Amino acid sequence: MMRGVSDHNVATPVHVAIIMDGNGRWATTRGLPRIMGHRKGADSVRRAIQAASDCGVSYLTLFAFSSENWNRSKDEVGEIMRLLRYYLHSETEELHAKGVKICVVGDRTKFDKETVGLIELAENKTFDNKQLTLVLALSYSGRQEITWAVRAIAEDAVQGVLNLDEINEDLVSNYLLTRDIPDPDLIIRTSGEQRISNFLLWQSAYTELVFVDQLWPDFQEKDFQAAIEEFGTRERRYGRTVENR
Ligand code: FPP
Repeated sequence: MMRGVSDHNVATPVHVAIIMDGNGRWATTRGLPRIMGHRKGADSVRRAIQAASDCGVSYLTLFAFSSENWNRSKDEVGEIMRLLRYYLHSETEELHAKGVKICVVGDRTKFDKETVGLIELAENKTFDNKQLTLVLALSYSGRQEITWAVRAIAEDAVQGVLNLDEINEDLVSNYLLTRDIPDPDLIIRTSGEQRISNFLLWQSAYTELVFVDQLWPDFQEKDFQAAIEEFGTRERRYGRTVENR
């Protein structure tokens, strides 16, 4: 079995990741400011966590804010950050009570002190929880993550801590921000867009992709369950044939 990838033909994915797309469109089609879509999106986050927990998923990764999202208007970025702080402040206790472990992957240097403090508090408080690991990808970029790994590997090689012949796929995986997290079995993207958008580039080599038309604020528990069912019908071969897998 490959590193970090669960075996084929398992009905329940160990790790589900979601590209939560369509908040802006949900709001603008209703004549509302975009932030209203993000607020509604936070309700979908709660539902997705519940659905993942109910389905027996062990890891749920949510792409909440990409490195590219910093280029949105100052107002929208400010509102999303406020929403994120509010969410961490108001939900950590409840998530902790439900046995959820919170982890954040991304470029923390971009966040203000208060936000970093709330992230660290949430991570520290929930560190030992085992029911579900919730990974929030915040200020995250797959290419940046790989670039950081390349730099760290080169640094260790130059320092003589690492021999060139030790560099293999497992080692690269261990230099990524997701080193403690198995690769995703399933990535769901909402809103009908069919792109990976710089999300978990290395980790998604053999991930099943499910695209759903619902905008993220409309995403329900049943949509999560339907995606899991769709995953169950997929045949994962990891490049091998049906006969010789
Ligand atoms: C994508 O929709 C969504 C975002 C960039 C922000 C996601 C934020 C949340 C769901 C809420 C806060 C997060 C947490 C973890 C509580 P979009 O704005 O790109 O939609 P569009 O493509 O229709 O414009």
